[in-house]
Amino acid sequence: MALPITGTTVKQQHLDWAAAGSLLAGLPGGALNLGHEAVDRHVAEGRGERVALTFLGRRYERKTLTYAQLADATSRAAQVLLDLGVQPGDTVAVLLGRTSELYLAALGSWKAGAVFCPLFGAFGPGPLKSRLELARAKVLIATEPLYQRKIAALRGSLPDLQHVLLVGEDGAAPAPHDGCADFNALVAAAQPASIVETNAQSPAFVHFTSGTTGTPKGALHNHGAVLSHLVTGRQVFDLTAADVYWCTADPGWITNTAYALVSPLVNGCMSVVDEAEFDPRRWYGVLKDEKVTVWYTTPTNIRMMMRYGAALARIYRENSLRLAASVGEPLNPEAVAWGDKALGAPFLDTWWQTETGAIAIANLPGHAKPGSMGLPLPGVEAAVVNRNLSKIEVLTEIDAVGELALKADLPSLFTAYVGDANRYQASFCEGWYLTGDLVRRDADGFFWFVGRSDDMIKSAGHTIGPFEIECTLMDHPAVAEIGVVGRPDLLLREVPVAFVSLNPGFEPGEALRLELLYFARQELGSALAPREILFVEAMPKTTTGKILRRALKAKALAEPEEDQPVTLAVAPGRFDDE
Ligand code: WT7
Repeated sequence: MALPITGTTVKQQHLDWAAAGSLLAGLPGGALNLGHEAVDRHVAEGRGERVALTFLGRRYERKTLTYAQLADATSRAAQVLLDLGVQPGDTVAVLLGRTSELYLAALGSWKAGAVFCPLFGAFGPGPLKSRLELARAKVLIATEPLYQRKIAALRGSLPDLQHVLLVGEDGAAPAPHDGCADFNALVAAAQPASIVETNAQSPAFVHFTSGTTGTPKGALHNHGAVLSHLVTGRQVFDLTAADVYWCTADPGWITNTAYALVSPLVNGCMSVVDEAEFDPRRWYGVLKDEKVTVWYTTPTNIRMMMRYGAALARIYRENSLRLAASVGEPLNPEAVAWGDKALGAPFLDTWWQTETGAIAIANLPGHAKPGSMGLPLPGVEAAVVNRNLSKIEVLTEIDAVGELALKADLPSLFTAYVGDANRYQASFCEGWYLTGDLVRRDADGFFWFVGRSDDMIKSAGHTIGPFEIECTLMDHPAVAEIGVVGRPDLLLREVPVAFVSLNPGFEPGEALRLELLYFARQELGSALAPREILFVEAMPKTTTGKILRRALKAKALAEPEEDQPVTLAVAPGRFDDE
């Protein structure tokens, strides 16, 4: 689906979503199920023997599943859930790595009509508990170590959580744990279920994203979102059955659900699923040896690879890549060019959010401007707007800065924040969804990221809400007041740092600083814990007494290098706790 180009102005091609619906297979009686579209459809249409997934274990153990094998295993996983009494719309939470069990859990949930809710393994018990509660998770499928370390002690305080299914190390049987069953053993023993009749409006998956205030927001998406995943996989990546596709996202991130789980499968290609974390040699090796043709990763990962230099890249210069893309934060033009030089494919930046559910704005081969977010995809209407109370003013002037708004007719757009109808309503105005991103649009129609309109922190592409960190640290007896902001970081873009004022009787100093860092790390996990604690006598406040984050941000920026306090050693970009 190439975009026509006239002069320097790209004309937006129209895409009729209703007509595009004919690309989906559907089920008798107008039913639509993500599991069927992603897997069983290919089997029904004679492509069952094609390899769907190649799994690489941490020690390079290699396992492949054909579409037919995946259809069978996921139908049995669905039966396991049905046997547990899972009803349509019940939530199945997941704490798994990039392994075959993740695919069985997701696709099994969809086939059983359940809502798949993957969580970050690098979250601590606090954030996990609040998310399990908000999602009212009935079933949890987890690795044995994550369950033991983070959930077992909470079990009694999660009344909705009725069943826990465990996966042992490297897929082995887990040791017996109270109130838990062996996921793989149940799947092996189950009969394949027939797919539960869901439709485009049935809820399918929920991902939590952080808010500036209050509890995290669980953005819910429907089975109908699969149309966006099918279409954008073609529009952006030009995916066909001939492709070998690799997405490096963490399972807790919607990027994994949309573009590691759904999009490559609905488009019938083969995906590589690498369980291991970032390692430059390994990653170059995977790209080359697995003959990856399309690669989707993040700016932080790209910058980490750049750090290892061109010499290492050159060894792997002979590869099969035809397209590389990135998401999560702005991609600097140097990184785009580096991809071209080192890998033979420039990185194309794509823009979207948990709420949009799928890519909305992207650079495309032949239609790219390094440093920009790209052009709205056909079928996506995007505008730069000002919101005044309940009115939207569309800014048509070239390069005017305003909030990015999307016409609220995307099949993948979220349909609720679970349990928070007011917040959901507040995200829409006059038929537009307001993204919270500040952007400008240039004369050629390309969008450029300017910043967030709120206090969200972006670290390694992940969105961190300062509020959740502040609430947790307030539980420490020494903390009187706290303000968390993002400090610029060359590799991760930003890292959360906490400014703390102390209660009487507590002395600022190295010992307390380390204690607070440790406390945060234990409660929040490595994904959310601040990297630094800075003590202040008094918090800067607005006239109404609210903590002035802008002033804290300026302070964080001004902090001279040598005065920076010790930080807990955290490997850059790593989001697990090992
Ligand atoms: C926020 C969304 C991206 C899907 C995963 C979930 C920022 C994302 C870009 C980009 C500049 C970007 C925005 C957006 N963002 N992609 N290409 N250029 N900023 O993402 O956690 O919901 O975060 O990430 O601020 O609103 P998320």
